[in-house]
Amino acid sequence: MVEAEARGRVPIAVFASGTGTNLQRLMDVEQEDQAWPAQIRLVVSDKPDCLAVARAQRAGIRVFARQPRDYPDKAAFERDVLEVLRECGIAWIILAGYMRIIGPTLLEAYPNRILNIHPSLLPAFPGRHAVRDALAAGVRETGVTVHLVDEGIDTGPILAQTRVPVDPGMTEEALLERIHRVEHELYPQVIRALLTGRLSEKRREWD
Ligand code: GRF
Repeated sequence: MVEAEARGRVPIAVFASGTGTNLQRLMDVEQEDQAWPAQIRLVVSDKPDCLAVARAQRAGIRVFARQPRDYPDKAAFERDVLEVLRECGIAWIILAGYMRIIGPTLLEAYPNRILNIHPSLLPAFPGRHAVRDALAAGVRETGVTVHLVDEGIDTGPILAQTRVPVDPGMTEEALLERIHRVEHELYPQVIRALLTGRLSEKRREWD
């Protein structure tokens, strides 16, 4: 796939619900790197007050931030999201700390075009509390996974994983910080490889 070269930067939407450090990293790479293949045209959030939304607004990026509870159901919320995604010509959805399961409306509109980053070595520790769960299980090593999104909870095809060591007695905060540092390197690398058609050659390096 040579989308990036053929049509300029590939339009992407980043979905976030939290602090948005991964979003920030992707915005920074886009600013700093001439050869970066993506353009964030939209940030979608289910939490209008979150820091990720503030970061996007500060950067002048279009934001769709609404509470799903203001809609009759998930499908109605996602139909509204989809309308804006289409308006913006979005080719890929990049989840970066988006704390909701993606429903059929978006999965069918973007088959194998939704990417997620998760703070564990999947299939170990899926779900919301991956870092806490890894510490509670007493593992010596956890990690970061980038995968395509399917209808399950953190179950789609894995594209890349990086290991992160866990020190004895480490706090959740310290481990999260270590994981974030890895995420901020790995996510841009995977997105670059994916959008420039170099995923298979890069994959060996991440294993
Ligand atoms: C990251 O740890 C990511 O793996 C998980 O949610 C967290 C988001 O962090 N899915 P941030 O909002 O990007 O700081």
